Amino acid sequence: MKIVVIGGTGLIGSKTVAILRHGGHEVVAASPSSGVNTITGEGVKEAVAGAQAVIDLANSPSFEDKAVLEFFESSGRNLLPAEAAAGVRHHVALSIVAIDRTDNGYFRAKVAQEKLIEASGIPYTIIRATQFTEFLGGIADSSADGNIVSLPPVLFQPIAADDVAAIVAEVALAAPRNGIVEIAGPEQAPFNEIVARYLKAVGDPRRVVSDPEARYFGGRVDEYSLVPLGEARLGRIGLDEWLRRSRAGA
Ligand SMILES: NC(=O)c1ccc[n+]([C@@H]2O[C@H](COP(=O)([O-])OP(=O)(O)OC[C@H]3O[C@@H](n4cnc5c(N)ncnc54)[C@H](OP(=O)(O)O)[C@@H]3O)[C@@H](O)[C@H]2O)c1
Repeated sequence: MKIVVIGGTGLIGSKTVAILRHGGHEVVAASPSSGVNTITGEGVKEAVAGAQAVIDLANSPSFEDKAVLEFFESSGRNLLPAEAAAGVRHHVALSIVAIDRTDNGYFRAKVAQEKLIEASGIPYTIIRATQFTEFLGGIADSSADGNIVSLPPVLFQPIAADDVAAIVAEVALAAPRNGIVEIAGPEQAPFNEIVARYLKAVGDPRRVVSDPEARYFGGRVDEYSLVPLGEARLGRIGLDEWLRRSRAGA
C-alpha cells in the first residue's frame, strides 16, 4: 500500500514513516526538504499520485497566530484537492484535544485545518492528541519569567511521540472513521506538577509556580481545557518511562 506522510521528517512524521516502512508499506516521507511543499504546491500532485492513504503531520514553521492560521489553511487548500483528484481513500491528520473549546491562536488554526478536511469529501480520520511529552521543555520556556515557570493547576495528560506515531500508523491502515479519535497519555495530573517533575528530572533549576491566572499560549484555561472529556485511547509511556528512555537515548 502506498502511503504519503506529509511532514515525514518531523517529530511524529519520522517515527510514523519508520513504523509503516517496517510493516512493508511503500512510504513517501514528504516535506519541503524532499521537494514536497504544501504551501507552494510544489511536488504535491506527484507525491500523492497512486497513494491509498495520506497522513498529514506537517507543522507550521511559525506559531504566531496569523502565520499558523495561514499555514494550515493554505496547506489544506493545496493538499486536499490534489488528494481528491488522485482518488486517495483515507486522509489522516493529527490535531489536538480540546481545540474547539479552548481558545488560543494555534488551536484556532487547527480548527480551520479540521474544517477543510471535513468539507473535502475525502474519507478521513482526525486524531486529536493531547500535548506531546517532548513538548514539556518548550512549554516551560514559553511560561517562564527568569527562573520562575508559572502554570495553571489544570489537568494535563501528555502523550509520548512514540505512542502517537504507533497510533497514527495503526489508524492510517484501518478504515476511515469520518470522524475524530482522541488519544492521550496514561497519566493525568495537574499541569504545574507534571512540568515540575520534568524540570527536576532533567536537572533544570527553574521553579514551577501554580498560578490559576497563568495562560496557556495566551489563552485562558480551566480544569478540563486540555484533557479529553469523553473516551480516549491511552498511550503506554508515562513520564517516568519517557524520561528513562530519553536518558538511554532511545
Ligand atoms: N506539539 C504538540 O504537543 C501537538 C499535540 C497534538 C498535535 N500536534 C500536531 O502534530 C503535528 C506534527 O507535529 P510535530 O511536532 O511532529 O511537527 P514537527 O516536528 O515540527 O515537523 C513538522 C514537519 O512539517 C514539515 N513541513 C513544514 N512546512 C511544510 C510545508 N510547507 N509542506 C510540507 N511539509 C512541511 C517539516 O518538514 P521539514 O523537515 O522539511 O521542514 C516537518 O517534516 C502538527 O500538525 C501539530 O499541530 C502537536
